[in-house]
Amino acid sequence: MIITNETQLASLRRIGRVAAQILQQMRDHAEPGMSTAELDALGGALLDQAGAQSAPQLSYGFPGFTCISINEEAAHGIPGERLLQAGDLINIDVSAVMDGVFADTGGSFVLATSVTTEGRNADIDLKQRLCRAALQARDAGVAIAHAGQRLNLIGRRIERVIHAAGFRNVRNLCGHGVGLALHEEPTVRNYFDMRDTDTLQEGQVITIEPFLSTNAGRVRELADGWTLAGRPSSLFAQHEHTLVVTRGEPIIVTI
Ligand code: CO
Ligand code: CO
Repeated sequence: MIITNETQLASLRRIGRVAAQILQQMRDHAEPGMSTAELDALGGALLDQAGAQSAPQLSYGFPGFTCISINEEAAHGIPGERLLQAGDLINIDVSAVMDGVFADTGGSFVLATSVTTEGRNADIDLKQRLCRAALQARDAGVAIAHAGQRLNLIGRRIERVIHAAGFRNVRNLCGHGVGLALHEEPTVRNYFDMRDTDTLQEGQVITIEPFLSTNAGRVRELADGWTLAGRPSSLFAQHEHTLVVTRGEPIIVTI
């Protein structure tokens, strides 16, 4: 989507805020012993309250309101009977549509553990570092997104941050255009592709969403037809914003 007037921008900001608030509330309510279906039901109720609809459900018939991916699941995890455990690395991705406008956000976090084990557990420490690096990579990409910028430089910046943190870049998951549909052109790669000659345009709406892993450079779809995962025992983290490209700093709408 290319934003050309204030009305469109206002609609995008509205749905962006809705998606961001739902992500935050789901994160706040997640606790050990809760099933991912229960957590998703909260997301569904909040979407309903806001007068919004789940974008993956509407666009692709996804069997849930939000995608909830745990530990070895990278993305598109289906909410279900799986129970959350303390120390789980959880990714929640919320994409929603209202008045025909779509926004997309997501984030990874480690479910709180007791004070006595936190900080001493190598597994939890690794998961937290992965989440922090995902956030840094996303924000490094966002920081250089402006009109006239080469799209592939965003990927180059993101990949450098990921590698500097000592993690793998999941190359077959990307950001994308968004706004009039959940997934639009362009593909926003998280690595430098020299064949990509696109430049960002003023008003263009895109997501920036690097996916990092402890030891997987790619993901594939599991037998359930949705969940994406990598090599056995690989962990994943992602952070995602929807933003509007301007000549200066981008307007982040999923806050
Ligand atoms: Co998303
Ligand atoms: Co996305």
